Amino acid sequence: MRTAGVSPGFGWTDNVMSKRNGRGPSAVIAGRLAQCRRSLRKAGAGAFLVTNEPDYFYLTGFSGEESAVMITPREVHILTDARFLEEIKDEVGWARSRLRKGFLNDEVVKACEELKVKKLAVQSKHLSVGEHAEFRRKMRGTRLVLAPPIVETMRRLKDETEVAIMRRAIDVAEEAFKTTCKSIRPGQTELELAARLEYEMKCRGASSPAFPTICAEGANAAAPHARPGKRKVKRGSSVLFDWGARVGHYCSDLTRMVFVGSIPPRLREVYAVCLEAQLAGVEAVRPGRRMCDVDEAARSVIKKAGYGDKFTHGLGHGLGLNVHEAPSLSWRSKEELVPGMLVTVEPGIYLPGVGGVRIEDDVLVTARGHRVLTRLDKSPEGAVVGR
Ligand code: GLY
Ligand code: MN
Repeated sequence: MRTAGVSPGFGWTDNVMSKRNGRGPSAVIAGRLAQCRRSLRKAGAGAFLVTNEPDYFYLTGFSGEESAVMITPREVHILTDARFLEEIKDEVGWARSRLRKGFLNDEVVKACEELKVKKLAVQSKHLSVGEHAEFRRKMRGTRLVLAPPIVETMRRLKDETEVAIMRRAIDVAEEAFKTTCKSIRPGQTELELAARLEYEMKCRGASSPAFPTICAEGANAAAPHARPGKRKVKRGSSVLFDWGARVGHYCSDLTRMVFVGSIPPRLREVYAVCLEAQLAGVEAVRPGRRMCDVDEAARSVIKKAGYGDKFTHGLGHGLGLNVHEAPSLSWRSKEELVPGMLVTVEPGIYLPGVGGVRIEDDVLVTARGHRVLTRLDKSPEGAVVGR
């Protein structure tokens, strides 16, 4: 298998978070748990029920699905079932595991009773109204309180371990794209090209695409989140690819245009505007800058060129275990950028009936400014394939 430019790395079972530190968790996990417990103490809760899978993975390294984690001042309980015995052993051997025989929520109720939890903090965004009502009905002696966004806040800043994994997710996506571009021929459908790109990512170690790959030919790209279909690529087509790899549980997210043979004249102008806006947006990324000001740095270029109403979404978003996570790099947010945030910068111009252009990079906020982690060429000439 050809894996040009990509060193061997994380496969689907790899989980660097789970490296043990003697009998305890890894130093990374121990640090996260300590920070989480500090927030819990402030909230006055006796235990924290983590029901969001990426959040409990982040806090413990446990990758089993349909489970929950309960964090108390001294212990971590993994509430799961026998499907995940291997993960328990490999990833969280240091924690207490509770293998449920019945329903997960009944195991939560039982754990609260046994541990005598008086006040249980729950994740309001990750517990349904029905489950909340069920807990209230079944729990005796345990009061439910809404947890502050403890893990969401922690996950906004990426540590070195996370940046290293995300670099791999970016490398995998970029190398897969280069190979896919070499194979583009008139007559292929959007679905075939999307499948090829996803295949090439998996060949290089991606466990899955980070999200359903967008491949949109011609006017289909006027929809920012177009679904690939049976439209065929022709000579003179413009094709928008928005794709990413999931590697070691983390996502990359890129968008590039491809022009088959030549650039349609109308899109040449639009591409130049979008690229100028994208470069201005990236340049504006630095600590202390407000999200809305970074958005405006890119948006003002597009407005000045007369396409302001054709850029219909925010400039970007945080990226990590989820493809979309905090912070939101948008005109709506007055929050400031902080070193360690990793965001996408992705202006787009969408012309119904004609086509769409978007260019997206993944950018790390550093102490002095930023580092663009994605490296694929953005020049219009570089985007022409199959000459
Ligand atoms: N890559 C998909 C999105 O950012 O919405
Ligand atoms: Mn994106």
